[in-house]
Amino acid sequence: MAQDPVPALLARAAERLSEEFSFLPEVDSPAPHEAAPDLERITAVLEETAHRLGDNYPYFHPLYAGQMLKPPHPVARAAYALAMTINPNNHARDGGRASSVMEIEAVAEIAAMFGWEGTPFLGHLTSSGTVANLAALWVAGQLAPGKRIIASEQAHYTHQRISAVLKLPFGSVPADARGRMHLSALEDQLRSGDVGTVVVTLGTTAIGAVDPLAEIVELRQRYGFRIHVDAAYGGYFRLIPGSLAEPARSAYAAIEGTDSIVVDPHKHGLQPYGCGCVLFRDPAVGRFYKHDSPYTYFTSSELHLGEISLECSRAGAAAVALWATQRLLPLVPGGEFARGLAGGRNAALELDRRLRADQEGRFEPLAAGPPELDIVVWKIAAGTPSQSSDRARQIFAACAARNLHLALVQLPEHWFRPVSDPAQDSADRGVTCLRSVLMKPEHERWLDRIWTAYTDACQGIRG
Ligand SMILES: Cc1ncc(COP(=O)(O)O)c(C=O)c1O
Repeated sequence: MAQDPVPALLARAAERLSEEFSFLPEVDSPAPHEAAPDLERITAVLEETAHRLGDNYPYFHPLYAGQMLKPPHPVARAAYALAMTINPNNHARDGGRASSVMEIEAVAEIAAMFGWEGTPFLGHLTSSGTVANLAALWVAGQLAPGKRIIASEQAHYTHQRISAVLKLPFGSVPADARGRMHLSALEDQLRSGDVGTVVVTLGTTAIGAVDPLAEIVELRQRYGFRIHVDAAYGGYFRLIPGSLAEPARSAYAAIEGTDSIVVDPHKHGLQPYGCGCVLFRDPAVGRFYKHDSPYTYFTSSELHLGEISLECSRAGAAAVALWATQRLLPLVPGGEFARGLAGGRNAALELDRRLRADQEGRFEPLAAGPPELDIVVWKIAAGTPSQSSDRARQIFAACAARNLHLALVQLPEHWFRPVSDPAQDSADRGVTCLRSVLMKPEHERWLDRIWTAYTDACQGIRG
């Protein structure tokens, strides 16, 4: 592993933090009945911990190109660890005074990325994309009780499950061969008049597909419904419109006209896990959260984040890490953060190009064209779907044996067929495909190495 810069960065910042509290009386060394930290034992336990952590895939390494996993930036790790010296709780300003203000500032920067700059909105961090979506659908249900939540069949499974938790009726809209929500199928459902909210996914989990948001915003004028954007994975791609193809670019441009947005800083935002974010266009939805707490909200008459959040205790450290990251890498088009995203996107386009260019025709990428974001999926050519699935699983294992970590995904087989055949399409039972999420900026530089390991692994299978 490369030399970790975090301990040295942290040491200097920790000194500075200690100076901030130098007005306090020294805490004496422990009394005889209090156990002093036993540094030798702690060191031994930490060595054992490190050994246990060795039993992981190397998520931080560019040869890990499987699931949505990206290492947090050193500034995020250092800021998180620094904040833990204080261990603030962003439920209320009582427990997280500075970190609540930092959360409000960081969330405003995310809102500005989506075009909500200088306009009122309500938003906060959550512990995950699931909880952020829960908040958005809970508000949607309060505004349109009894009406349906609908999402594409390629939307994250969390929407159906959250709707069940909230006891809201849920409906699924078919997706097209690009994995995008099918507009005419959506309109069929809207005609029934019982749809309260359409969940629009910008960056589906399986293939990074981008639902046609601009067209859905137009449909809203005719049918009147709420639009919730699940951009947990894909939200940050709003910063690189020049790297996207149409119609994804138009979809991202339409975000600012929606009612609520979810984005996960712990996916593409370089944060440790425990950092989702939900934004509401209309700050008046804050009324649904109104509650009394006899225990908190004493120290300030300003808004406490617990007053607008379903979660109570939340890690102030997550807000501090996000704030510090965005201070270093502002969320602006053309900035260093945006260039990192574009690097992964370039890697995905290049991998897709090489798969399509294979002289022996061994690989079958999506028939409809290149990926919309930075997730590449492909089928392995074979006589039957079950042979293709078997080969994909064997290649997946052979790659792992070469330290290249890809992922597997079950997708409709007709997505890979150049000519569609309605009879075959309706009997489609799916096929196991290879999937690679190229979300690290370094993936662009590592693509040759990834390709060599991948093609070597394929030779092994054929032999
Ligand atoms: C589009 C989308 N929405 C929601 C989620 C759930 O987010 P989390 O895993 O942070 O709860 C995911 C996770 O992959 C996702 O890709």
